[in-house]
Formats: sequence, structure tokens, C-alpha cells
Amino acid sequence: MPIDRREFLAATLATGAALAAAPSPAADREERVRTKDDLPTPALLVDLDKFEANLKKMAEHCQRAGRAWRPHAKTHKCPEIARRQVAAGAKGVCVATVPEAEAMVAAGIPGVLLTSPIVERGKIARMAALAGKGDVMLSVGHARQVELLAQAAEAARTVVSVLVDIDVGDRRTGVLPGEPAVELARLIGRSKHLKLVGLQAYAGHASHVVGFEARDKASRLALAKAIETRDLVTKAGIETAILSGGSTGTYNIDSTIAGVTELQSGSFIFMDADYRRIGGESGAVYLDFQPALTVLATVVSATHPGRAVVDAGIKALATDVASKPELIGRPGLEYTLAGDEFGVLAAIEGAAVPALGDRVEMIVPHCDPTVNLYDRIYAVRGPRVEATWAISARRESEKL
Ligand SMILES: Cc1ncc(COP(=O)(O)O)c(C=O)c1O
Repeated sequence: MPIDRREFLAATLATGAALAAAPSPAADREERVRTKDDLPTPALLVDLDKFEANLKKMAEHCQRAGRAWRPHAKTHKCPEIARRQVAAGAKGVCVATVPEAEAMVAAGIPGVLLTSPIVERGKIARMAALAGKGDVMLSVGHARQVELLAQAAEAARTVVSVLVDIDVGDRRTGVLPGEPAVELARLIGRSKHLKLVGLQAYAGHASHVVGFEARDKASRLALAKAIETRDLVTKAGIETAILSGGSTGTYNIDSTIAGVTELQSGSFIFMDADYRRIGGESGAVYLDFQPALTVLATVVSATHPGRAVVDAGIKALATDVASKPELIGRPGLEYTLAGDEFGVLAAIEGAAVPALGDRVEMIVPHCDPTVNLYDRIYAVRGPRVEATWAISARRESEKL
């Protein structure tokens, strides 16, 4: 039957209104995704109960110890998590890259400290511009870096706050402790566009030392160099308010060292298999923080007896460390990487093997680089997906 003009117009308007009211395809997908079973795999999950317990534990520890904390956001690259850390009492976050710094400032996070050195003019100009907009600091470890940053700060008509990065044994970044660090502090003091606010002493070589006593020794030895340097800097008439350092493995060691003003620990918020193996004060497994970060995978092939193949390989799990993914609630299964897209779960001594289509959840071997493989993290409580958080600070290339 032919449709008359009035009916046609009414139908068109109704369709338009329905379209305008309809959620976007992305919003629609979020709306329908309610439980872990609905998620496409591989998926990155954070268990909110464990995450919140880790957050509370670090907040209470720092409060008791009378230290500030500026957790490292390289672990999560997620402004939503940074917001929760600041709400729990952190004075800001550390970042490892310029895009991380930009993402955190854009999200209104205060006290953003770039802990890695930068020497490219473009990146230095971006940090100087950011310092004009937000509460930002940079760690510097070389005279050339100081010179370039002072020039960029002058061009941006701003004053940039800096920390002297000291190499306390990591042999990675920073100036040597003692006189070379004092000299760098003096150089910073001579620039009208830089303001020295403190020292950074990250002892990465101590963070994963196995056994609490050995770790305690390694961290104290490293941080003693920072304290000595701080004393020399003070003797030279230069005041520094901040001495920033520490890791997840050494948080309860470094926070007892007089002079350390704040902790940079990052991984504690998620934990990973590589941190669990270092042992704690009370035993062979490091249980101070709970493993909150997991990768959810699906069994996509079960051709051979005693083996199941999951859809999580090197593109879903960072496997740069010797520790393997730990299967949750499936004893006797061992994960082995089987290429870009796959992992094999092998049954030891007759353990039950999951069937085709089954889901498995794994504690990740190394949290920071695993997060860096994903665009979003699903925040779950039990089986329910409560939120989806964007890992928005990982997009380095978009900022070029
Ligand atoms: C400079 C700096 N500070 C702090 C951290 C945090 O260490 P963790 O994740 O072991 O707590 C890192 C991690 O690599 C780091 O590079």
C-alpha cells in the first residue's frame, strides 16, 4: 500500500528521534557487558576488592610511617587509578614518559613527577609547557639536560621544578652520588627558570632481591648514598625538601630510613608473579599486597590429551621475566607461551584440563608491560564488571 506524505514524514521523524536517543555502539556494548563471561578475551581485569585492599594498605602504611607517597603510574597508565590513589592520600603520581605526564595533568592529577630522563628538545619543550599548566616536576641527572630544560623553561616563560636523580647503584640513570650530584644541584640553582625541590634515589637493583633480609641490606646500602649526598647538598647551602625513592619490594624498608620523605612504589597496586617470588618478612611468597591484576583467556583448542590452548600469548601477557602466569583456581596446570596469540596449559600429574570454550584467569608475570598491551582494564567485583577504565596514558605515538 502506498504511504502518504504525512505518514512518511512522521515515520522519518520517529526514526530520527529513536536514533538520537540510542546510545552509541560503544556505549551500547558497555551497557550490555555485565559479567566476566560477557567479555571478549584476552581481557585485562582488576579485582576491585584486592585493588582497594592494596590501596588501603599502602595508604595506612605511609601514614603510620609519617611518609608521603607518590605511586608510580607507569604501572597502570590509567588516570582513573591515579585519581583513586590521590583520593586515598597520595600526594601525586610518578610517571615514566611525557605522554603519561600529559595524560595525568589532563586528568587533573596533582604532583606529577617525571622520573625518567629526557634529552630530546621536543619532549623537553612539552614538559616545560606542561609545567605552565599543571603541578609538574622532572628528575634530571646530567648538566646537558639541565641546560636544555632551563632554555625550554625560559622560552615557555615558566619556572620548572626539578629533582636531582642520583644513581645509587642501579647503573641506569642519574648522576653519581656525592660531589657530582652536589655540582649538578649548584648548576640548577644558577638558573632563574629552574627550581631545585629535591633528590630522587630509585634503587631498582634492590626491589626484587629475593629474601627480605638480603633486600633490606641492598636497599639500605643504596639509600645511604642518597642520604650522604643530601647532607653534602645541605652543607653546600642548598635546601631540598624531597627525597623520593622506593619500590614495592622495599616500601617497608625505605620508609624506616631517616631522610626518605616519600615512596615511589608502583606495582603494589596490582602485584604480579615476579613480585610474589621475592618473599616477604613472613615467608617465601610476598603476600604484603594481593594479586589484583589478571588476564582472562578462553580455551580455543583442546586437540591433545592433557593440553589446552588459550588465546593469550605474547600479545596478551608480557613474558620478559622468568616467572610464569599463575592460573587461578586450577591447580596442576602450567602455562607455556606458544606464540603471538596462544599459550599452552599443560596438566601436571593428571590435573583436570579445561574444555574448549572454558575461561581461565591468570596472575600476570609482570604487571607494567602487560598493562601496556591493552586499551582498557575491566574493574570487576566477583563475576560482575563494575567499570571499564581507559589505559589512556600508553598512547605514545598519538602525541607525535
Ligand atoms: C623510577 C622508578 N620509581 C619507582 C618504580 C616503582 O617500582 P615498583 O613497581 O617495583 O614498585 C619504578 C619501577 O620501575 C621506577 O622506575
